[in-house]
Amino acid sequence: MARVETTSNRPYHLVIFGASGFTGQFVVEEVARTVSEGPKGTLKWAVAGRSKQKLENVLEQAAGVLSKPELRSEVDIIVADVGEPDTLAAMCKQAVIVLNCVGPYRFYGEPVVKACVENGAHHIDISGEPQFLEGMELNYNSQAADNGVYVIGSCGFDSIPADMGVLYTREQFKGTLTAVESFLTVNTGPDGGCIHDGTWQSAVYGFADSDKLRSLRRKFNHKPLPTVGSRLKRRGALFYSNEIQQYALPFMGSDPSVVKRTQRFLVEEHEATPTQYGAYAGVGGIGNIIKLMFAGMMFWFLVKFSFGRNLLIKHPEFFSFGIFSKAGPSRKQMEGSSFQFAFYGEGYKEGQDPSQGKPNGKINTMVQGPECGYVATPITMVQAALTILNEPTALPKKGGIYTPGAAFARTTLIDRLNKHGVKFSCI
Ligand SMILES: NC(=O)c1ccc[n+]([C@@H]2O[C@H](COP(=O)([O-])OP(=O)(O)OC[C@H]3O[C@@H](n4cnc5c(N)ncnc54)[C@H](OP(=O)(O)O)[C@@H]3O)[C@@H](O)[C@H]2O)c1
Repeated sequence: MARVETTSNRPYHLVIFGASGFTGQFVVEEVARTVSEGPKGTLKWAVAGRSKQKLENVLEQAAGVLSKPELRSEVDIIVADVGEPDTLAAMCKQAVIVLNCVGPYRFYGEPVVKACVENGAHHIDISGEPQFLEGMELNYNSQAADNGVYVIGSCGFDSIPADMGVLYTREQFKGTLTAVESFLTVNTGPDGGCIHDGTWQSAVYGFADSDKLRSLRRKFNHKPLPTVGSRLKRRGALFYSNEIQQYALPFMGSDPSVVKRTQRFLVEEHEATPTQYGAYAGVGGIGNIIKLMFAGMMFWFLVKFSFGRNLLIKHPEFFSFGIFSKAGPSRKQMEGSSFQFAFYGEGYKEGQDPSQGKPNGKINTMVQGPECGYVATPITMVQAALTILNEPTALPKKGGIYTPGAAFARTTLIDRLNKHGVKFSCI
């Protein structure tokens, strides 16, 4: 198939699709802020979605928040609906990169990926849904490669900090890093915090469908990755973590799936030694554990039935003890919130043969940043997009469906994130 040209004379470098969503509005603000860092007029962008009125409102709001009245007149609007393929194709033909914020991706994601691949626009999303992410790899990888299109999933808080954090830890370790565990802690200020309903819906439908994910994975026919060094022990369903001095449980998001796919890419494409990975999240003290157990039991029970899912979707606040809400966090709550990912790795120091004896070196690194969902996610998404635009020769040679780690391993994405408030450091 003829390669589709992605960069020639398209009117927009970036098109934010789903700009009227809760997350989309903050991506719009982040793009507007980032564009003003460079010379005027060098980066052209537009907002897209199914409602012109809502998109106008988002630009109006961003213009007010950022004191940039010019946004109202300078930023173009594209009307496109996931249910109308022609409108998606028309949108994709105008964009070098589509920043797709329309979720849950399991329902709305595939037509957008398809339209991007067919019409030569690179695609970045903020999905945390392994079934969608891996399904796109299965179905579109070869067509995206033929067309020279990069489709890079999970470029939000899920899973750039974890995936790039593991790569950063590998790079900082002088030798061969064989295993790493990450411990996530989220802090809120005096006003508290929460996550918007959009992510709750993605989680409800994702858990309900977990059997399909297992059968999807079998279709790849992957051999297990080789284990180098000591096998990483799985921690319990709930344990006290000395690393973060609080109770912790396995992290339920897309990080383990994304990191594993990146490690597989490094093994297959670069003959690298894979790093085993375990992801955990801190939950605090006993009070939080009781609440979480109660919410978890209700969730596991209800998510299995359609009436239960309807209940969960209707009442996110009630069933998540306020962790998720239809209104989403306020700007004040976001300002007071932050995250920390602590990575604890082990491996063979330089000069030690990884096939002999036990690992003899340890490393501790950190990725930290502002509120995860609506401050850090727009930053990571926008910096991922700018990396594609500015460093095409550092991307993998072929287009295809990539994880952030696979796509950005040789780029300066980590430096870019460091400059924009998502900080990587070695301790
Ligand atoms: N990786 C991360 O850390 C992270 C962080 C935040 C969010 N997310 C993910 O991002 C996604 C969006 O979350 P959210 O909270 O922003 O959800 P949301 O507020 O419900 O936004 C959904 C967006 O999709 C649009 N949309 C729905 N159906 C459409 C259609 N047929 N055609 C075109 N657009 C359509 C909506 O348009 P209207 O405005 O017209 O309804 C809206 O703009 C979720 O999957 C969530 O999990 C991930």
